[in-house]
Amino acid sequence: MELNRRQFFTACLASGLSLAAAEELWAAAHAADFDFEGICRKVGWSPNDPDAFFFLHATDLHSSEVEVGALRMPHKFEGKCFVQDMNALDPRPAFVALTGDLISMTSMNPSTWDRAEQYFARYKKIICDRLEIPFWQIIGNNDCAAVPYKKVFPELPVYWSFERGGICFAGLHGYNCWGAQTSNHSGILYDAEQLAWLSEIVAKTSARTLVLFTHEPLKDADQHCARRQLAPIVQSFQGEAVWNIAGHNHGNSDRVIQLGGRPMRVVESLTPVGSWSPDDGLYRLLFAKNGLITASAYRWLTKDGEPFGFAEVPNWENPAPMETLEESFGRKCRRFWLVGEDDAEIRAECENMEDRISNLYFRRNAFASWNLPTRVDGEPARTVYLGFIGKPGGTVTLTADGAEPQTFPAAAEFELPEAFRKTEKFQVRIDSGENTEFRICALGVR
Ligand SMILES: [Fe+2]
Repeated sequence: MELNRRQFFTACLASGLSLAAAEELWAAAHAADFDFEGICRKVGWSPNDPDAFFFLHATDLHSSEVEVGALRMPHKFEGKCFVQDMNALDPRPAFVALTGDLISMTSMNPSTWDRAEQYFARYKKIICDRLEIPFWQIIGNNDCAAVPYKKVFPELPVYWSFERGGICFAGLHGYNCWGAQTSNHSGILYDAEQLAWLSEIVAKTSARTLVLFTHEPLKDADQHCARRQLAPIVQSFQGEAVWNIAGHNHGNSDRVIQLGGRPMRVVESLTPVGSWSPDDGLYRLLFAKNGLITASAYRWLTKDGEPFGFAEVPNWENPAPMETLEESFGRKCRRFWLVGEDDAEIRAECENMEDRISNLYFRRNAFASWNLPTRVDGEPARTVYLGFIGKPGGTVTLTADGAEPQTFPAAAEFELPEAFRKTEKFQVRIDSGENTEFRICALGVR
């Protein structure tokens, strides 16, 4: 396991190394570079390249987590922080994109909005007002409400687009369709107005690259609704490259999915104060020239905003391909149903759980059942697939007319017992039991 910087330094100092020697070792081990020109040379970018510029990505600040929350820190971001570091970069970045969860503990329930307005006001004061570079921002699943946001940022639209150097950037707001009861991990869904707006932007642009900023990455299993909505728009883009730059998972990631029949590169960044508890963090630099994003680097900082070098992004030239949920189900199943999009026709019961836009969330003693066909396209179903997010817990119970019910530990894939293949349909029921928590996004048979 890779040590974080603090663990690395503790180990070095314990072994008798000096602080300077530890710094040098860290820099060598992480290809860290303390001068900006050095990292530009390493990644093959120069400000003199045609249409050259670079921009920054910082995400999931959770700036309201001062006394409570996983990323809580007293006086969070009030003192020295990543903002000062961004301001000091020379040459200047074109802009910073802040991709949501600017604050947290906010829902579409209006009872959270007064507090959210205070949180947004504090965020504006400690982050936006101190930034000396242009910023573009969207809200995320944990600060999803446009109403308190607009009170603090009346001049900023919740979704927006602009072009620079042959790249068309659009920031999307995924939470307009959520209602007061919608919980914070329901999945992105765009309204018709925003989709029409984006279609027009994409139809008109002559940019080489399209960048969609979203809070939740479009690669994730529970973003199948957003993928289905965006696929035709992405497909219609006349340029060469499509990117999705996102946050939400509090980690660095670089994958390629297929959307609208073309590759989409999905890039995520760690928060500036660590992943799930205050720790070293970073913001990302993205370098552009000739209308293409050609390179990226990390700017590592301690949680208190002390920079400790730039670092190259590992495997930047060869990001790993990734199958979307619907691709993996489409490959292995003869027929499948995505939760929320098309499982209504087979869902039988649902109790004690959250029925979300793109997934069902099982907690204590929750259950759901679906009626699945035993024959698909004239072929008997032999295997059942369940698309869990998180480790499945609890049990699966199969029932059908004329067959003894069978119960076994929940699994993502299981053989359909012989006795259940003889009837027209069978029922699959998932019980979470006492102490398990998981989500389900899809069901399929083969
Ligand atoms: Fe999030």
